Amino acid sequence: MTWRATVLTLFPGVFPGPLGASLAGRGLRDGLWRLDALDMRAFGVGRHRSVDDTPFGGGAGMVLRPDVVDAACGAALAEVPGRPLVALTPRGEPLTQSTVRELAAGPGAVLLCGRYEGVDQRVVEARGMREVSIGDYVLSGGETAAMVLLDACVRLLPGVMGAAESAAEESFADGDLLEYPHYTRPAEWNGLRVPEVLLSGHHAQVARWRRAEAERATRERRPDLWARRAGGDPSRTSAGEGRAPPLAARSDAA
Ligand code: ADE
Repeated sequence: MTWRATVLTLFPGVFPGPLGASLAGRGLRDGLWRLDALDMRAFGVGRHRSVDDTPFGGGAGMVLRPDVVDAACGAALAEVPGRPLVALTPRGEPLTQSTVRELAAGPGAVLLCGRYEGVDQRVVEARGMREVSIGDYVLSGGETAAMVLLDACVRLLPGVMGAAESAAEESFADGDLLEYPHYTRPAEWNGLRVPEVLLSGHHAQVARWRRAEAERATRERRPDLWARRAGGDPSRTSAGEGRAPPLAARSDAA
């Protein structure tokens, strides 16, 4: 079965956007996945097809009406039932690779893009939506967040990525280690040389160097990820201060 995404939005024209390019775009054209953007305006109420109203309790901005959002959800699910509903909102649970893997393994997803101040909470709960945030910053709407989520899911679908990219996904499958840095020709550029070990042809040494660089980047840039790793394996904290033990002392170094 084709993995199917339906995006509920007030700006259907922005899709597929960047998802129409590169591997995701080729997968879309090849029918490896399908994307429908459903205009919520079509479910608006009254002569003006209103989709939003002022918030009860006062405050700035407008809130998407529950009846309008519910009708749009109903239409999306009538088309392909059984798909999870995901509301993109800065109030949501942080998007992780494990959520991405879970969604990619299913039949697809219905993604609700909030605009204005948000969505009436009653329809979010009545429809059992999963509220997801792509990070601790506020976007002007959920559309770009939906694209981020879709990009991450689609690249995991069978046939979308080439073999090389698939292998890369494997080595960081736990999402708990940042990638090592990459280099290509020329070996010297503007007086800057590529790390010598990468030119050595010594596979075990290359693997050890990459592992150490990945660990260093994770430790320095993402102490939160590093602490989680260290917490799961006491041998990793034996050198103190959350630093990895010397590579020579590690059984998994190569
Ligand atoms: N809509 C606005 N900001 C968002 C965020 N950070 N994540 C998901 N959806 C959003």
